Amino acid sequence: MKKDFLAIPDFTTEEIKQTFQLALDMKSGKIKPLPLKDKAVACIFLKPSLRTRISFEVGIAQLGGKSLYITKDEIGLGERESVYDVAKVLSRFVNMIMIRAFAHKPVEELAKNATIPVINGLTDLLHPCQVMGDLLTILEHKGKIENLKIAYLGDGNNVTNSWLNASTRFPFDFRVGTSPDTKPDQNIFEYAEDMGLSKITLTSNPREAVEDADVIYTDVWASMGQKDKAEQKRMILKDFQINKELLKFAKKDCIVMHCLPANRGEEITDEVMDGPQSVVFDQAENRLHIQKAIMVQLMGGR
Ligand code: CP
Ligand code: NVA
Repeated sequence: MKKDFLAIPDFTTEEIKQTFQLALDMKSGKIKPLPLKDKAVACIFLKPSLRTRISFEVGIAQLGGKSLYITKDEIGLGERESVYDVAKVLSRFVNMIMIRAFAHKPVEELAKNATIPVINGLTDLLHPCQVMGDLLTILEHKGKIENLKIAYLGDGNNVTNSWLNASTRFPFDFRVGTSPDTKPDQNIFEYAEDMGLSKITLTSNPREAVEDADVIYTDVWASMGQKDKAEQKRMILKDFQINKELLKFAKKDCIVMHCLPANRGEEITDEVMDGPQSVVFDQAENRLHIQKAIMVQLMGGR
């Protein structure tokens, strides 16, 4: 049966570990699998992208395949044509779909009706490829994920929700520092709490969130599709900026992460983003390696 990757819990912990190993083996050049040889991947982008688009296109080429860049003007997903029909038609032409969209539900509908694997390249709800790459980056820098203190500061968004999902696959101490008006998705939060694997803390005190942290993470305060709320979020989230002062409360060897693109001077200062603790460009690079590994997994493994 075909498998999709719409959310981190779509993979078991074992499968995620295999995916990390695959990514590392491809990154080091140890293996060069070609599971997409003579195959094509439809990459649908209903929102802009730098990292996701380029890393998927390059990754698909490195796996031997061809990528098709499709924007909202071509398909008109759910408008020009139903999601069901798009799923059926694309399944006859290509071997995999990667989609970046607004609402999450149409992506689930696409996956349900396609006979080929579908990968979530970001929705308003989740950004699983990002957090998979981030976990790989943490593994490289810290040698483990288990039992680390990981603080997410800022808007409770798609990236935060994927971090909560990750906390159901690896045990870590996850702190979300955000305002009462910008909390992550309630259902995903409760699911992560109920799973009981990780310690989850929600606080409106940024210092409490970063206390003794091994990893501090942030993202833009206003995500794509929310730019009309930018001014309001700037006001309510201003205390959650990652700056030199706040870093003093974390461990000395704490690493700083940002999925990018960043609004420098808002959620993170230049000084921290360009400083010695920042691993933001390692994160960006790892999008390539982890997504190649996810695609290999969905095509049947190494
Ligand atoms: N981090 C990330 O997904 O970047 P893009 O929006 O540029 O793809
Ligand atoms: N939360 C951000 C992530 C961008 C990669 C957004 O959805 O715009």
